[in-house]
Amino acid sequence: MIITLASSKGGVGKSTTTASLAGAYAHAGHRVHIIDLDSNHTVSRWLGDGRCSPRLTVSSADPQDLTEYLGVIAREHRPDVTLIDIAGTYERALTVAIARAHLTIIPAGPSEADIFEAARVARHIRSVFQAFGREPLYRLLLTRVQPLASHAQVHACAEIARLKLPAFETAIHHRAAYMEIGLSGRTPHFAGGKRATVDKAAVELDALVAEIAALIGADSAPVLAKGAA
Ligand SMILES: Nc1ncnc2c1ncn2[C@@H]1O[C@H](COP(=O)(O)OP(=O)(O)OP(=O)(O)O)[C@@H](O)[C@H]1O
Ligand SMILES: [Mg+2]
Repeated sequence: MIITLASSKGGVGKSTTTASLAGAYAHAGHRVHIIDLDSNHTVSRWLGDGRCSPRLTVSSADPQDLTEYLGVIAREHRPDVTLIDIAGTYERALTVAIARAHLTIIPAGPSEADIFEAARVARHIRSVFQAFGREPLYRLLLTRVQPLASHAQVHACAEIARLKLPAFETAIHHRAAYMEIGLSGRTPHFAGGKRATVDKAAVELDALVAEIAALIGADSAPVLAKGAA
């Protein structure tokens, strides 16, 4: 199963969600590989030393070579789940990563700018799949939501509904457990200790994994034939 985290906007939580979701899958016993396509190598820096789990591996790739690289990863790592984290810009890699994914997650904070950008990415996904005559599977994921339901969140949900953007019911809240990943090298599921921020993050990540499983099942065939992208 390949999941792409896509947004043309920077700082919406692509890398944080990629790392956290990978931790959730690895904790549940799956082999997970993250392909880091960001030239800043954010997730590679955060998780590259393998502190979380031997089941969670990360590698960087040149976005130009993504199609071939996916084949290499499938052969060498045989992951159950591959997560692709991309840079916050439009480029060919975004199109390839979307076209090769079973599911594209579009993270967006509860702001007009983030949701506007998410709608643009959704249009881009639809146009990519239209070219292949296939139905895309994508979901907006609200990220960095304040734990106490704010008016901003209420307006964000209304805007998402108005734009008819399919969205996950689960939201990723603004939590210290997510902010710490870069410094500790540990995702919420591997953070250890008994802390509310870590426990609550793990619960919402598991809820997200369950929603994804309901959408695409544990193992599904590639959406587009190799080479189609
Ligand atoms: N749920 C969250 N709670 C708290 N902080 C968060 C959360 N999600 C992201 N952040 C923080 O926001 C910043 C941006 O997040 P992140 O790097 O994941 O975004 P991005 O979309 O990958 O950005 P870029 O486009 O630059 O790659 C980071 O400092 C991260 O720690
Ligand atoms: Mg990033």
